[in-house]
Amino acid sequence: MDRKEFWIETYGCQMNEAESEALKITLKARGWSEALTPDTADAVILNTCSVRQTAENRLWGRLGFYKHAKEEHRFKLTVMGCMSERLKDAMFSRVPEIDLLTGNFQKNRIADYLEKTFSDDFKIKLTEPGEYEFFTRHSNKDFKAFVPIMHGCNNFCTYCIVPYVRGREISRNFKDIYDEIDRIDSGNVKEITLLGQNVNSYKIQAGGRNMDFPALLESVAKRVTNIEWIRFLTSHPKDLSDRVIRIIRDSPVLCNHIHLPVQHGSNKILKLMERNYTRESYLALAEKIRKNLDNVSLTTDILIGFPEETEEDVKYTMDLIKEAEFEDAFTYYYNPREGTKAYGWGDPVPHDSKIERLNRIIELQRSVTRKKRINKIGRTMKVLAEKRSKKNKLELLGRTEFDDMVVFPGSSDSIGKFINIKIEDISGDTLRGKEE
Ligand code: SAM
Ligand code: SF4
Ligand code: F3S
Repeated sequence: MDRKEFWIETYGCQMNEAESEALKITLKARGWSEALTPDTADAVILNTCSVRQTAENRLWGRLGFYKHAKEEHRFKLTVMGCMSERLKDAMFSRVPEIDLLTGNFQKNRIADYLEKTFSDDFKIKLTEPGEYEFFTRHSNKDFKAFVPIMHGCNNFCTYCIVPYVRGREISRNFKDIYDEIDRIDSGNVKEITLLGQNVNSYKIQAGGRNMDFPALLESVAKRVTNIEWIRFLTSHPKDLSDRVIRIIRDSPVLCNHIHLPVQHGSNKILKLMERNYTRESYLALAEKIRKNLDNVSLTTDILIGFPEETEEDVKYTMDLIKEAEFEDAFTYYYNPREGTKAYGWGDPVPHDSKIERLNRIIELQRSVTRKKRINKIGRTMKVLAEKRSKKNKLELLGRTEFDDMVVFPGSSDSIGKFINIKIEDISGDTLRGKEE
């Protein structure tokens, strides 16, 4: 095949980011190169997300754009990921300009099939459910890498589409995880993130050994020699064990940052969401984490506007935010997802009320985040320099172990390296400092 250019757009979570990265590397190994703009691409690939209707609406907009772009120049259009897994044929009928439609279970075959669309000039649909195969590759230029350790979810929180589009939970063989981490460790990577929808339920029996998440985390932390930071995403509060907290405490490479989505502060709503914990047990866990891990950063997800939510429930959530003092939070308003249990309960909270409640939550969390970051002024923190600032070309953006964004003067040579930064100021909720 002639040398061709691809353009990938990635929506959704880190799992999608990891799989898009793997596809980029697979295509490059076959002689493709990454286009600088979609206008010159021979193949446009959209890696999609279904978690919220807003994510799907955006994708329909992109499909509309590429449908018209096809009138201007010839390229093959691929749609992959959670939205095509959910909608299957409906996507093809609505956008017949799609050349290759794949869901979540055939990612190792996408590059083959994409090339087939050129040679045979026919449309391909690959959305039959199958066994999930982990699809992961890394470039030796990377300084950060995602390492998927499990796939799918068995929790079926009543609002969530993920178990339907990603399938049942499967844990990856730890030998494959070790091999991948060893390869990454021999390159330039400074930070890895172990990925799964609920990493704490990792469990596998292989080679006569039983491995659970604490055991995996401990052995990975002991194994690495060049990687300096290890993180993991996401933890379900019902499954995060004392062993995991102890292992983080005793390991110099495990970051003192835990993302622990609470979703809501009202026991009534948590029960309707089927999260299997209470506000009290969550707060007790948060306290235990803070007591055991020095300067730990605790971040969360909050989902507001769920059916039956009242003002009192919102107040419980605001009180929980104040009590848990999250370093940061991703906040969303509820979108009903067809096929989930809660879909049958309608969407009784009016849209305007959801937005108004969400804004209150965002404002409160911003003040908590700012207060916690102000306390970091004066400290010297190890920062991994990630990229050039868009606002000021003489400045870099980086992150601390605690996932705080820091802006500081620096040159491109520092990108991908650790630098000690003395924190001097804060603008909005971004820390600013100078190399020490
Ligand atoms: N597995 C993780 C967990 O258990 O928290 C996160 C999964 S999901 C990809 C990321 C976040 O999207 C969730 O934590 C939740 O706050 C939000 N989310 C999930 N379903 C949603 C829905 N129907 N409407 C709005 N937000 C939703
Ligand atoms: Fe969705 Fe719940 Fe699974 Fe997270 S744990 S992916 S919120 S069903
Ligand atoms: Fe979205 Fe699929 Fe991730 S629905 S959040 S891309 S698992």
